Amino acid sequence: MPTTQAQSANPLYILMISMHGLIRGNNLELGRDADTGGQTIYVVELARALARHQNVGRVDLLTRLVEDPAISPDYARPEEPLGDGARLLRLPCGPKRYLRKETLWPHLDQMVDQCLHLLRKQNRLPDLIHTHYADAGYVGRQLSLLLGIPLIHTGHSLGRPKRERLLASGRKDVAIERQFNLARRIEVEEQVLKHASLIVTSTRQEIDEQYGMYQNNDPRRCAVIPPGIDTSRFSPPERKKTGSTIQREVDRFLSQPEKPMILTICRPESRKNLKGLITAYGGDVRVQEMANLVVVAGNRDDIRDLDEAQQSVLNELLLDIDRYDLWGKVAFPKHHCQEDIPELYRLAARRRGIFVNPALTEPFGLTLIEAAASGLPFVAPDDGGPKDIVGNCHNGLLVNTLDPAAIAEGLNKALLDMQQWRKWSKQGIAGVKRHYSWDAHVDKYMNVLRHLLRRDRKRLRREFVFAHRHDMPALPLHAQRVLISDIDNTLIGQKDGLGDVVGWLRDHADTVAFGIATGRPLDSAVKILKNWRVPLPNILVTSVGTEINYGPGLLPDTGWANHIRYKWRREALLDALTSIPGLEMQTAENQREFKLSYNVDHNLMPSLAQIHRHLRERNLHARLVYSHEAFLDILPIRASKGHAIRYLAYKWGLPLKSFLVAGDSGNDEEMLRGDTLGVVVGNHSPELETLRGFDQIYFANETYARGILEGIRHYGFDEFDTQPEERSETIS
Ligand code: GLC
Ligand code: MG
Repeated sequence: MPTTQAQSANPLYILMISMHGLIRGNNLELGRDADTGGQTIYVVELARALARHQNVGRVDLLTRLVEDPAISPDYARPEEPLGDGARLLRLPCGPKRYLRKETLWPHLDQMVDQCLHLLRKQNRLPDLIHTHYADAGYVGRQLSLLLGIPLIHTGHSLGRPKRERLLASGRKDVAIERQFNLARRIEVEEQVLKHASLIVTSTRQEIDEQYGMYQNNDPRRCAVIPPGIDTSRFSPPERKKTGSTIQREVDRFLSQPEKPMILTICRPESRKNLKGLITAYGGDVRVQEMANLVVVAGNRDDIRDLDEAQQSVLNELLLDIDRYDLWGKVAFPKHHCQEDIPELYRLAARRRGIFVNPALTEPFGLTLIEAAASGLPFVAPDDGGPKDIVGNCHNGLLVNTLDPAAIAEGLNKALLDMQQWRKWSKQGIAGVKRHYSWDAHVDKYMNVLRHLLRRDRKRLRREFVFAHRHDMPALPLHAQRVLISDIDNTLIGQKDGLGDVVGWLRDHADTVAFGIATGRPLDSAVKILKNWRVPLPNILVTSVGTEINYGPGLLPDTGWANHIRYKWRREALLDALTSIPGLEMQTAENQREFKLSYNVDHNLMPSLAQIHRHLRERNLHARLVYSHEAFLDILPIRASKGHAIRYLAYKWGLPLKSFLVAGDSGNDEEMLRGDTLGVVVGNHSPELETLRGFDQIYFANETYARGILEGIRHYGFDEFDTQPEERSETIS
């Protein structure tokens, strides 16, 4: 009887992110470049499998949109359906062309912003974010923090073990860094490990040995959930099936093709240890008598066209075949395609053969699972992945692959006992169904998730929730308007009216986000707001626009920091400014990563133009902000209160005129100008007089907070509504 699974009442929306490589729904170009491989197929199959589960309503797999004449236009489609409930979404990020993963880092903040736009537009937030590899982990962590959504992460491979391996192979630290950007990757991996609610690994060993190298590793938050394989592709042989093309391609090498075959399938890499396998086979006549050896190691037209490392592996292989005189016993087909692989396993199973993986180390071993699914027992290294697989499937032998004699002995044992072979073959097929199908993967995943969501949703909400609205994330993603006020002498300074502004914000918290923009550093801003009983804003633009933080968690916007870092040389600027008369450094709390501040003796200080020239002569770039004839702030050229607001508009996809901005003095000037709805309070400093007569700058009669309320009324900010097509999409 067909079982129809009832959709659960509250189906999950899962957002998956996988940044690099070439991802599409069909005909994956695996092996086309180093970034399009196992992870690519993993994420596509996982997305589909998750969407099939009864408790999952929707899965979006986000990746980078690539428009590049060198690759298929498939990768430039913004949306591609992956079947029931699953979609592949591609978002632009950095340059249009294809980029290898090591060079994606500077562009990831843009991916964060693009995701926010997307989520705003569709007006629905995911229940969880699942990222793959460190680059996506970076993006997902930001989103998770901003939106208060739990993060699940799968590393696929990790930077620290890779660095160790490369160092052990004799490469120099600087050269490794130049090629792979590992420092950045490892730092991100630490942050992701610290924050993620769950780390999914494929094997136990990955947790112990690889994640074990990280400070923030916490095995309690790790779960071993091995990937599935597509069981519809890999299945045991049917009886009647006769010769396929790949069979002819194999058999033409062999003088007795009907003998059992020892099959190996791997990339021609030295770690895969084809050398050890040939030595084992070539050195053992009993094995040669019992079985042929079939080596499927990539495709080749001419070995001399392959890269150097591959050439060396294959040259050795040919020389060893000759040395042991294995002609007629070893098949080494030149070509095969994706569809031939399942057929090869079946052929070997039909001939009562053995799959062998002779690799020196094997963290996972997907081919072993494919062999098992095909009813083909195996001999494999006594290492992480194979250990788990044999433990689950009981379908083969583990041997010390460092020793060719041990490989030969394993092959002997596996080939001799036919009763055992049949048992292994059966157990392998059953074991894969149970442990390595995507449906089994998803079942385990959903089990772990049930507990986690219950626990972490609450935890995350608690950490990031706006005190009076219990479902509000750090970033009020659904806000349509934003009120941004300066603190000193605008919002604060006169009791009268402040309570009304706070009340207004509370009444409009569904649609209006609240922010402050101040010259004060973050701590001092938070303190004074507290003293005046102003609730903590959603957005805090502090230190004259050089820092942006969100929500009660005070989460820093690292995208902003990365954006304004441009041409900022703090130490050199400090040096260059010491010789300028009339400048005295302000207190330490006012000196920030992106802000140097001075108290000014107006009579001694040279003109701003002279200071500018002085810096330019030293090839230094900075923005100078002079306020109240008393303070001079030195900022990165991309930073100011005004720029910060433009950045926020871009980040949220809101037009500038949905920002009502209030201020009283010089450092507010820039955010008041332009398309924002500017309000100058009645008690403003004289330097703002120059703004009179400008469009969209309203001079209130009332002072301080009362002036803000007057501005709200003036613009009808209560009823103001944005048109979606007016959303800002650019950033200066
Ligand atoms: C605030 C800051 C100070 C800055 C001044 C003008 O008072 O604390 O560092 O110089 O604003 O922007
Ligand atoms: Mg002020």
